[in-house]
Amino acid sequence: MSPTAGPRKQIHLAAHFPGVNNTTVWAAPPAGPTTAPGRDAARPPSFGSQIDFASFEHLARTAERGLFDFFFLAEGLRLREHKGRIHDLDVLGRPESLTVLAALAAVTERLGLAGTVSATFNEPYELARRLASLDHLSGGRAAWNVVTTSDAFTGENFRRGGFLDRADRYTRAAEFLATAREFWDSRADAGEPLPVDHRGAHFTVRGEFGVPRGPQGHPVIIQAGDSSEGREFAASAADVIFTRHSGLEAGRAFYADVKRRLPAYGRRPADLKIMPGVTYVLGDTPAEAQEHAAEIRRQQVSPQTALLTLEQVWGVDLSSYDPDGPLPDIDPDPHGELAQGRVRIADPRAVADRWRALSRAKGLSIRETVIETTGRQSFIGTPQDVARELEAFVQGDAADGFILVPHLTPGGLDPFVERVVPLLQERGAYRTEYTGTTLRSHLGLPDPARPVRKD
Ligand SMILES: Cc1cc2nc3c(=O)[nH]c(=O)nc-3n(C[C@H](O)[C@H](O)[C@H](O)COP(=O)(O)O)c2cc1C
Repeated sequence: MSPTAGPRKQIHLAAHFPGVNNTTVWAAPPAGPTTAPGRDAARPPSFGSQIDFASFEHLARTAERGLFDFFFLAEGLRLREHKGRIHDLDVLGRPESLTVLAALAAVTERLGLAGTVSATFNEPYELARRLASLDHLSGGRAAWNVVTTSDAFTGENFRRGGFLDRADRYTRAAEFLATAREFWDSRADAGEPLPVDHRGAHFTVRGEFGVPRGPQGHPVIIQAGDSSEGREFAASAADVIFTRHSGLEAGRAFYADVKRRLPAYGRRPADLKIMPGVTYVLGDTPAEAQEHAAEIRRQQVSPQTALLTLEQVWGVDLSSYDPDGPLPDIDPDPHGELAQGRVRIADPRAVADRWRALSRAKGLSIRETVIETTGRQSFIGTPQDVARELEAFVQGDAADGFILVPHLTPGGLDPFVERVVPLLQERGAYRTEYTGTTLRSHLGLPDPARPVRKD
């Protein structure tokens, strides 16, 4: 598709720090001018760890060099397990997101700083305070990805345990966010805080807020989740949706569905940005990019990983199967709990049927099927191909931008910033400098209205 005539929609970009997913391949950063300036000489970074600040710093500085809207961190509140053993990639653990972002605020100037924090296992006052503090410390760059973790396994780390069913997760998240906004709005001007008195199904709070209103008024709100409840919550209250859809047609359907929900909440289509999480592989020729992509997939899906992935769908032990052989013809156990702490697959039977049909049609082994079905290499090609395709998605209303998930951590964003960003700029679809200082201004979002003081 060629970009449409008339003013170009501007592409929004964010950088996801992966680290704990089996799609991550750890690597040394490229040497020379692409490494983070300033600090490296004094303290050579020990890359290759999701706990070492140097890794976060490298990715964030690269994203800022590429004039990205924001840096993005996911969250896991419990080490994932498989067959009762801690998942390999989790053993090292991962630091708490808002703490990492506060440290990154000191080594970046314009980049937005987005943290995923569960609305199920936190309290509105405490989180509103931490986010308002980050917004102050960063000069207006804070964002909160509101997730609704509810599995009982994760809940065991908390006093309440896994206490919410599916329907209540979003009612709590919506009330949580509304209560946090009451706190932020209670300090809408420089005067004394207004008292907050909230009584609802999930929270009853009375008090005053301890932090003045941040530079953005409210931090940018992101929602990640694909269900109808998730989409409705996003339409009513979020500024950005982080979605997994990656095909052009699926993307357009999702985009249209979400944007059509906005008027019911008095909102315009531009008030909610849709940013799928996507990967990319670059090569000097299309063939080289394809070859490189296939090589990355083989690294990501070892024979052991293939079986482990299959067990997560089937929910039963499949260790007697040959990863180079056919898929099991037994059906998945929908109540199987081999894997703990992951986002649940809604309908394992349907997934298994789909995988078996694909494997039969194409004659694929277990490992080949997993490689084919779990790949999220959305954009593969020369930098020109990738720039053209990214833009086609945005101009074709399948996305407003992308949350880029590099394969290589933390150096995998460097080639994108060096080779694709200039092409997007040449096409007139991407900024050539930051024009504002806050994340809201990067995203073209209005500041939330200041409530009028009634006293
Ligand atoms: C793209 C995406 C990213 C997510 N990231 C996280 C995360 O980092 N931590 C977390 O606890 N849940 C995460 N979730 C889970 C969601 O918050 C939610 O609990 C889950 O998707 C089920 O809700 P849904 O039915 O609305 O999709 C993510 C979901 C999606 C779709």
